[in-house]
Formats: sequence, structure tokens, C-alpha cells
Amino acid sequence: MSPGSIWSASPEQTAAMGAVLGPELRPGDVVVLDGDVGAGKSVFVRGLLRALGWRGPVLSPTFTLFNEYEFAGGPLSRIVHGDLYRLDTVAELNGLGLDEYFDGGTALVIEWGGVAEGVWGDDVLTLTFDYVGVDAAHPERGVAEGGASRTAPATARQVTIDGVGRFLGRIAELDTLLARVAVEEAEAQNDAATEHGADTQDDGEAQSYREGAP
Ligand SMILES: Nc1ncnc2c1ncn2[C@@H]1O[C@H](COP(=O)(O)OP(=O)(O)OP(=O)(O)O)[C@@H](O)[C@H]1O
Ligand SMILES: [Mg+2]
Repeated sequence: MSPGSIWSASPEQTAAMGAVLGPELRPGDVVVLDGDVGAGKSVFVRGLLRALGWRGPVLSPTFTLFNEYEFAGGPLSRIVHGDLYRLDTVAELNGLGLDEYFDGGTALVIEWGGVAEGVWGDDVLTLTFDYVGVDAAHPERGVAEGGASRTAPATARQVTIDGVGRFLGRIAELDTLLARVAVEEAEAQNDAATEHGADTQDDGEAQSYREGAP
């Protein structure tokens, strides 16, 4: 069991985790998001960009490879959101002006970034998204290795944190931060459900999990 694994029970929780990470980012940071199609990487990025103040649309860079988001007023002036799913070879990255992204106030957040391991520099945080619950519509996705529960809802995801460089010493801290916000978001969702008179008998308990939690 990895010490750096958090469970998310909903897209809102995953977005809330992204929202916590956004303000933690510094120029030069690279966040690599790995994990299966539909596991929640883009949901996470959307939460991250919203937390930094981006109000416009957040479009998938699946075909453009990279989308840029500019921010005024802080040391972090740009987030580059990448998605390398359609990258055929790592060599394709040469000539895309990636070097420019490592200058100045930019942090990179790269879906499927693991395919280009080695090009991301020294300060890399890697978040791996796994399915935890079995989705009847997609049983092939199965469950995450090691920490899975067949009773978990189909919307359950596991996010595993790893990092090098300046992130190496921050894994535990970020793990705690992201896990806490996932729980808080779950509680807020439950409160909202209660306020709206929903039948909360079955979901009175926060729908967030930490691997190995009792
Ligand atoms: N706990 C959860 N966290 C995130 N998304 C969830 C969760 N439960 C269900 N979902 C749904 O799963 C989908 C995740 O889609 P998303 O685009 O973020 O995946 P992705 O990992 O970026 O996939 P791709 O590799 O195709 O880019 C969304 O439709 C979202 O509503
Ligand atoms: Mg995506």
C-alpha cells in the first residue's frame, strides 16, 4: 500500500484536490497526471485552474497538445495544460517550443506526461489516477491494484502522489492537504444534500476514503 494514496468519491472531490494544488505551484514546477482514460485528470486540472482565478473555458488539449492560461499579479504567470495522449513519439515534442515553457513564470500540468518521462526537469510531481470502484458499464477498467474495494462506487478514484526535486520532501504534506480537502468537499456535498431534503440515510457518512481507513 502506497502511503501517498487518496480516494476521491466524486468529480467535485477531485476538482477540490486540484484547487488545493494550484496555489501551491511555483514557476518551473511540472505536474504529471497519469492514469486511464476518464480517470479524472482533466477534472483535476479544471479545479486547479479555477482556483488560480481562470474563469473562461478549460478545453481539452487532446489535439493541440498544449493549452496556455495566463495569470496576472503573481510569480506564477502561466499554466501550460498539456495532454500527450495522442503523442506518437517523444521526439515529436522537439520543435514544439517546450523550452520556452521552462522559462519565466510557467508551471506545466501534463496529462499522460509519463509517456515523455525525462523531459520534465528536476521538480516533478506525479499524480496517478486509478479506478477503484467497478463500473458496470466498463468492467474492463477493473479496480486499482492493491487498494481496491469491490463495494466502492463506480465514481471512486484513487490518486497516488509521487514526486522528485522540490516535491520529494513534500509528498506527505501534499498527501495530507489533498486528502483533507477531499473529505471537506464530501462533507459539503452531504450538507448540501441534507439542505435540499434528499434522503441522506445512506450517505450521512462522508463519501471519501483513505486507503486503509477503518
Ligand atoms: N471521483 C471522480 N473524480 C473525477 N472524475 C470522476 C469521478 N467520478 C466520476 N468522474 C467522471 O469521470 C470523468 C473524468 O473525465 P476526465 O476528462 O477528467 O478524465 P481524464 O483522466 O482527463 O481522461 P483522458 O485521459 O481521456 O483525458 C468525468 O466524466 C467525471 O464526471
Ligand atoms: Mg483529460
